[in-house]
Amino acid sequence: MAIILLEDLSRHYGEDETLVKALDSVSISIEKGEIVALLGPSGSGKTTLLNTIAALDVPLEGTYLFEGEEVPLGHVEKMTTFRRENIGYIFQFFNLLADLTALENVLLVQDLSGSRNKDKALELLDSVGLKGLEDRFPSQMSGGQRQRVAIARALAKSPRIILGDELTGNLDTETSTMVMEALIKTCRKEKMTTIFVTHDESLTRFATRIIRLDSGKVVDDEKGGLKSIVNTTKFVAESVVEEAVGGVKKMTSKIKDIARTIVE
Ligand SMILES: Nc1ncnc2c1ncn2[C@@H]1O[C@H](COP(=O)(O)OP(=O)(O)OP(=O)(O)O)[C@@H](O)[C@H]1O
Ligand SMILES: [Mg+2]
Repeated sequence: MAIILLEDLSRHYGEDETLVKALDSVSISIEKGEIVALLGPSGSGKTTLLNTIAALDVPLEGTYLFEGEEVPLGHVEKMTTFRRENIGYIFQFFNLLADLTALENVLLVQDLSGSRNKDKALELLDSVGLKGLEDRFPSQMSGGQRQRVAIARALAKSPRIILGDELTGNLDTETSTMVMEALIKTCRKEKMTTIFVTHDESLTRFATRIIRLDSGKVVDDEKGGLKSIVNTTKFVAESVVEEAVGGVKKMTSKIKDIARTIVE
C-alpha cells in the first residue's frame, strides 16, 4: 500500500484574472522508503505540494490518503496531530531556536511528541557529523552545521515522512553534498520516506525517483530511472562500505580494550 496517495489535488489562489493554479489536478502515489526529488521552475507548486503533504495547507479539491486513511484536512487540531505524529519538516532557513543549543533544539522536538531520549538525540547529532558541537548555540555554528542540526531535529521523533524544502538552498556545493549525505544515510537506515524540493539537478543523484512540476501539474515522473538506480546503488554501496569500515574500527578498538584489561 502506498504511504502517500494523492488524487486530483487542486489548490488555487485568487480568482478570475488573478487566478493561479498552484496545484492543478495532481495525482501521485509514493511507496514507503522512496526518496523523491521534487523539481520545477519557481512558482510551479513545489512548496504548495510539500505543504499539502505536511497538512500545513488544505487543497481545494482532491483526496490525500496516508497509509490508506484519509488525512483530516481542514480540521486544524487533527492536522496538527497528524503532522506531529508523522511528519519531519526541514526548512531552507533552519528555523532553529536561537536561545537553545543544538542538543536542546533536538530535545525540544522529542518533548513535543512526548518521547524525550537524550541518548538518541546525541546519537542523531553524531550521525550528522556534529559530535562535540551539541552545546553550541545556532549563532556559533556555520550554515551547514545549522542545517545538520535541523536535520537531526526533523529525524528526532522518527517521523514516517521527511520533507525538505530547498534544504540546501543557501549552502555551497560541498556543504550541500555533506548535508544531503547525512540526511539520506539516516533516512535509508530508518527506511523513512523522503521528499525533497530542489533547484539543483545534481542533487537528484540522492533520489530514487524524480518528479517534475510545471504550472501546478506533474510533467515528468521518473520512477526508478536507470540514472537514479545507478546513483542510488553507488551511494548505498558506499554507505555500506563506510559502515562496515566503521564497524571493523569499533571492533578493533573493543578488542584492544579487552586485550588491555586482560594484560593490566
Ligand atoms: N499565499 C499565496 N497567495 C497567492 N498566491 C500564492 C500563495 N502561495 C503561493 N502562491 C502562488 O502559487 C504558485 C505556486 O507557489 P509555490 O510556492 O508552491 O511555488 P514553488 O514551486 O515552491 O516556487 P519556488 O521555487 O519559487 O519556491 C505561485 O504562482 C505562487 O505565486
Ligand atoms: Mg517554494
